[in-house]
Amino acid sequence: MKKHFFYITICCILLTSAIPLSLAQQEQIDPGKSVYEKHCLSCHQADGSGVPGMNPPLSKVSWVTGNKTKLIQTVLNGISTPLEIDGEVYHNPMPSHDLLSNQQIADVLTYIRSHFGNTANAVTAAEVKKVRGK
Ligand code: HEC
Repeated sequence: MKKHFFYITICCILLTSAIPLSLAQQEQIDPGKSVYEKHCLSCHQADGSGVPGMNPPLSKVSWVTGNKTKLIQTVLNGISTPLEIDGEVYHNPMPSHDLLSNQQIADVLTYIRSHFGNTANAVTAAEVKKVRGK
């Protein structure tokens, strides 16, 4: 019986040490989803597919899964230059979201980078702080 307990404990330790990053990432998902629903969903839609000709998709787009600095700047400053995503040109401007906190931006970006078919790693509040400069 005691031996049994020992093996279970070892297993638990091994399991938890193998997944700390994904656990940390998981903690950002629920708050990230609420930020998304409140501040992004109306334009980019619940499934990140966007609205053709108006708001570009966030699903499987390299802008979302690639360079974090550019992605953070997009949310902080918005964009008003026309963009071409998946062969479709978008002219509508995206408003700035600099009223969101560094943590909220980190959470929402972590959410969009790991949903809608995307599998990129998390964005931290420290990374947002660095780009914002405060
Ligand atoms: C009022 C509508 C609107 C809201 C709200 C909005 N966006 Fe956008 N977003 C746009 C438009 C329009 C563009 C394209 C801008 C352009 O062509 O210059 C865009 C572009 C983007 C891009 C780069 C292009 C792409 O498809 O990947 C990202 C990333 C993005 N938005 C993320 C977000 C996130 C995250 C939020 C919420 C914090 C958000 N947006 C809120 C309309 C919006």
